[in-house]
Amino acid sequence: MSSSELTQATAGAETGPAGSVRLDHVTHRYGRGGAAFTAVGPVDLSVPAGEFLVLVGASGCGKSTLLRLIAGFEEPTRGAVRVSGAQPRPGEAAGVVFQTPRLFPWRTVRGNIDLALRYAGVNRAQWPERRAELLARVGLEGTEKRRTWEISGGQQQRVAIARALAAENPLLLLDEPFAALDALTRERLQEDVRRVTDLTGRTTVFVTHSADEAVFLGSRIVVLSKSPGTVALDLPISLPRGDVDAEELRDSEEFAELRAEVSHAVKSAAAA
Ligand SMILES: Nc1ncnc2c1ncn2[C@@H]1O[C@H](COP(=O)(O)OP(=O)(O)OP(=O)(O)O)[C@@H](O)[C@H]1O
Ligand SMILES: [Mg+2]
Repeated sequence: MSSSELTQATAGAETGPAGSVRLDHVTHRYGRGGAAFTAVGPVDLSVPAGEFLVLVGASGCGKSTLLRLIAGFEEPTRGAVRVSGAQPRPGEAAGVVFQTPRLFPWRTVRGNIDLALRYAGVNRAQWPERRAELLARVGLEGTEKRRTWEISGGQQQRVAIARALAAENPLLLLDEPFAALDALTRERLQEDVRRVTDLTGRTTVFVTHSADEAVFLGSRIVVLSKSPGTVALDLPISLPRGDVDAEELRDSEEFAELRAEVSHAVKSAAAA
């Protein structure tokens, strides 16, 4: 689907650009009364449609909480969250890859993907072709008949990524999706996700602990302060996008400088 098709597919019912995200003075607390704990905020953030935003920050600063707020799985204690101009509806606002893959263990790899295709409204006649395309994209060819409890954690995570891509939602939320993968697979998937989201014009919010991954993927990086997370650094990344030589990009001086800057910012934000 092209970016204009994506926009058209979701226009009408929404009151903002499809896939755009706005957080207005968002704070989230878990628990009540004396036991209440502020996990994140206040955060103000506007993510225009088509942006690839990477969130980085120390463990526990509230990154997953922010993603859950954007996905509509949590409601903010204070402030407002808008996706495509409207309050996000859980399961509909975004394609989501959770920090730990949440698949249907009794279903096969194929069953998990097909369910996502059904939810996405893809015509059943197109399932085999779309399924094969998605599995090839995440390097899982030939695993269709296996049960998800029979495959490795990294493979499960790749099924979750394929499932999120199947949704063709204008907003994609990914919570450390590559953390459990080997370096080679990780680089390959980074390249795929970067290319696919650029090509389709999807808005992406991606959480990682890796400065390297953040710089490679992001068109913008937001570093969060330590708990409760607030925006400590908001850095546009102007590295070339689209059809680029990934190796050349990773080896460039500009890349190394940005990686050092992000790495330094994450460390100072965690220590502040
Ligand atoms: N359901 C919950 N109930 C109570 N506290 C929670 C809940 N979920 C998260 N927290 C707390 O909120 C804070 C932020 O958690 P969150 O999972 O958003 O952090 P994170 O930045 O994603 O961390 P990590 O990098 O380790 O995944 C943490 O202190 C965590 O213990
Ligand atoms: Mg997390």
